[in-house]
Amino acid sequence: EKEILTLAVESSCDETSAAVLKGGRTVLSNIISTQIPVHQKFGGVVPEIASRKHIVNILPVVDEAVRQAGIRLQDIDQVAVTYGPGLVGALLVGVSAAKALAFSLDVPLIGVNHLEGHIFANFLSAPDLEPPFMALVVSGGHTALVDVRGYNHFHMMGQTRDDAAGEAFDKIARVMGLPYPGGPRIDALAARGNAMAIDFPQALTEKGNYEFSFSGLKSAVLNYINSEKMKGHALNQPDIAASFQRSVIEVLVGKAFQAVQETGRSTLVLAGGVAANSGLEQRLREAAEKRGVRFCYPDRILCTDNAAMIGCRGFYQSLAGGFSDLYLNAVPGLSL
Ligand code: KG4
Ligand code: ZN
Repeated sequence: EKEILTLAVESSCDETSAAVLKGGRTVLSNIISTQIPVHQKFGGVVPEIASRKHIVNILPVVDEAVRQAGIRLQDIDQVAVTYGPGLVGALLVGVSAAKALAFSLDVPLIGVNHLEGHIFANFLSAPDLEPPFMALVVSGGHTALVDVRGYNHFHMMGQTRDDAAGEAFDKIARVMGLPYPGGPRIDALAARGNAMAIDFPQALTEKGNYEFSFSGLKSAVLNYINSEKMKGHALNQPDIAASFQRSVIEVLVGKAFQAVQETGRSTLVLAGGVAANSGLEQRLREAAEKRGVRFCYPDRILCTDNAAMIGCRGFYQSLAGGFSDLYLNAVPGLSL
């Protein structure tokens, strides 16, 4: 029996990406064209510039994905695309391209939720992983705990009330004069700082609360930096980074394992761009070992935005008949 070939497209933020998957878990190609250098001089993603760059990049990226997969465009059986959440103009480029491809190839279209895509990146890195499991999603735009009960059955345990964890990383890095995106820079600084140097706050830590809030922590760090500057002190960047990161990590780890315990899950997976954080991954791994819980996280390239994870999600969604019609629209505020 021939395995389904899925062409996937992702353009929700500042990466233009296309991938080809054979079946649900074999990645034949995963082309990622990042706009990070373009947005760096502005200190963050400029939505209008992102849309324009996606328009320029989308077809060459799709062509390259098909070429590297060693197939012909007409071999594609279905097209999956991120339709939200994300920047509306950015999403529209991918959605329009995917609709045009599906229409011209006369194959089904699958609109994919970007957050579900991040979770499904784990299936690509752990071939034997199967639901149920608990997923901790931490990206630039989202922080959430999701109970994955089946391939097409998700239960939101809680999400952020205000800022996402990645957003806090990026904002603090910016104030410290570090280039966008700040997450990897803070991560590197933190590795040589003292995490106990400064006591930053942790929010909503009461038991049974799976919501997150990072705006208070963000303000506390910014106030600390400003008051140090006022006093004429040189900033100890590694200590600030390490102390801030400890605050984020302790909240994430604490809530994740509480959720694991409450639901009785035996597996925890990490997802989203912040999954690339070495401190977070290490603390989760240690805590999982101690509790006898299996811990998975995607390969680094599959942590941040990419189309392979969208293809994986699209494949499993298609098994449950989760197709879209050609009226599919971008939904910037799409929830799980
Ligand atoms: O998932 P993603 O590529 O985009 C969204 O869907 O939001 O995540 C990007 C976020 C950025 O905020 C970036 O700073 C953060 O992931 N990030 C990190 C690390 N690498 C990327 N945060 C902390 N430590 C890292 N090593
Ligand atoms: Zn993302």
